[in-house]
Parts: sequence; C-alpha cells; structure tokens
Amino acid sequence: MTISIAPTDRVFILTGAGISAESGLPTFRSDNGLWCGHRVEDVCTPDAWRRDPAGVWAFYSELRVQGQKAKPNPAHIAMAELEAKLPGRFFLCTQNVDNLHERAGSHNLVHMHGDLFKARCERECGRPPIDDQSVYATLDQVPHCPCGGRLRPHIVFFGEVPLEMPRIESEISRSTLMVVIGTSGAVYPAAGFVNWAHQAGARTVYIGPERPLNASEFTHIVEGKAGVVLPGLFTVA
Ligand code: OAD
Repeated sequence: MTISIAPTDRVFILTGAGISAESGLPTFRSDNGLWCGHRVEDVCTPDAWRRDPAGVWAFYSELRVQGQKAKPNPAHIAMAELEAKLPGRFFLCTQNVDNLHERAGSHNLVHMHGDLFKARCERECGRPPIDDQSVYATLDQVPHCPCGGRLRPHIVFFGEVPLEMPRIESEISRSTLMVVIGTSGAVYPAAGFVNWAHQAGARTVYIGPERPLNASEFTHIVEGKAGVVLPGLFTVA
C-alpha cells in the first residue's frame, strides 16, 4: 500500500510508544511494558509525586538511561524525511517523551506528554523547564529551583493537561491527512484526535501491528511494524 500526498494536503502525524519499540524502548501496555513493576498510571500522577517523589524520579531516571541508549529507527527517519518533502505542511505530535524524533531530524513537532530530558519546578513558579539529563539515585541529588521548590520531571502526569493543546487543535483543524502510528488509543485526549480529524473531513490512517482501541475511527489501517511499513509508504506529488 502507498499513501499519496497531494500538493494541497496538510499532514498531521500522531505517534505513540510503538514508533520507538524498534529502538528497544518498551511500550507502556505490552506484556513486558511494566516499568520497575509499576503501571505507568501509578507512578505518573500528581499524587504519586506528593507521596513518593524519590520513586517517581527512580522511574524517570530509568527511562532516561534507556532513552540515552536508544537510537532512532527507520520509522523516525521516515518521518523526518517526509517532513523535509512537505515544508510548511507537516506537523508531528508525539505522546512520547523520548527524543528520538528530534535525533532523527524532525523539527516541526510537539511533545504533548512532556520531555524526558527536561525538569521543572514542582511549584509551577513560572520559571521555564530546564535541560536535565541526570539520573537521580536518591532524592538528595535532585536540585531545587531558585524559588525553593524541588525539580520534578517535565512530564504530563495523569490528570494534568497535555502541553500545546491550542496549537495541536489548530493543526488538526487544518490537516487533510492524519497518520497515527504505534499508539493503543487508550489515553485521551490523544485517542480522540482521529475523531476530530475525521469530522473535519481528513483521511485518517493507523499504522501498527495491532488494531488500536479506536480502530473504527480510521479510514485505513496498515497492520505492521512502523519501521517496516513507514519507509516507502508515502508518495509526494
Ligand atoms: P501503548 O503502550 O498504550 O501502546 C503502544 C502501541 O504500539 C500498541 O498499540 C502496540 O500495538 C503498538 N506497537 C508495538 N510495536 C510497534 C511497532 N514496532 N510499530 C508500531 N506500533 C507498535 O503506548 P501509547 O499509546 O503511546 O503517557 O501510550 C499513550 C500514553 O500512555 C503514553 O504517552 C504515556 C502512557 O501512559 C504518559 O506518560 C503521560
């Protein structure tokens, strides 16, 4: 199968953990997708941060170790190559907190669930997130903001509002092709984007080895691994 992109098309890509699976990063909801024996929902909440900040940092420190070792795979590279062919009409929204899209060469992207390699003040004091690649073995090692608050991962915890939503909504409303890659359709609002695009008249395509929970919303489903399917999938007129 090929997906043709016409000169009038605007492309919105949504990626999830599946696009990084072939880089060796486990997905969240697969059989072996548990981190340190936790469900991500148990570690990734404001309540978990209040109760056990050391445990939250241990979880994200482990993700940092994994993320630093991983390399972009052919699916990330295919997305960067597609962007280069569609100047001004390509937008990538990722739920992933790894930086593999950037390292593959993607530019016009947002991390709606945050950035693994940034930290910010737990008090939301207004200072912007800072770059932070550190691995924290104990809470004593975690730096504090100048305001006195402890630094927390720059991650959208369950119950918090995803980042960049106005920009994402605007991009969806003007897209004519939405391609969703490697996400189970379990977490909203991302799982609802296909519905918004569909209602706006866009073609909607899903790529992944299993049908997502929201499969009925897509006009096409391409079953397969992203790193195998994506290279060569698109023809740009
Ligand atoms: P999930 O773990 O829920 O789903 C991963 C999806 O990737 C599954 O549907 C798999 O079938 C698919 N998959 C596996 N291998 C693949 C491959 N090689 N190519 C393509 N697809 C493949 O992960 P997400 O849907 O991304 O949120 O999870 C959404 C959010 O839930 C995450 O961003 C995270 C998590 O809790 C936060 O951390 C806030």
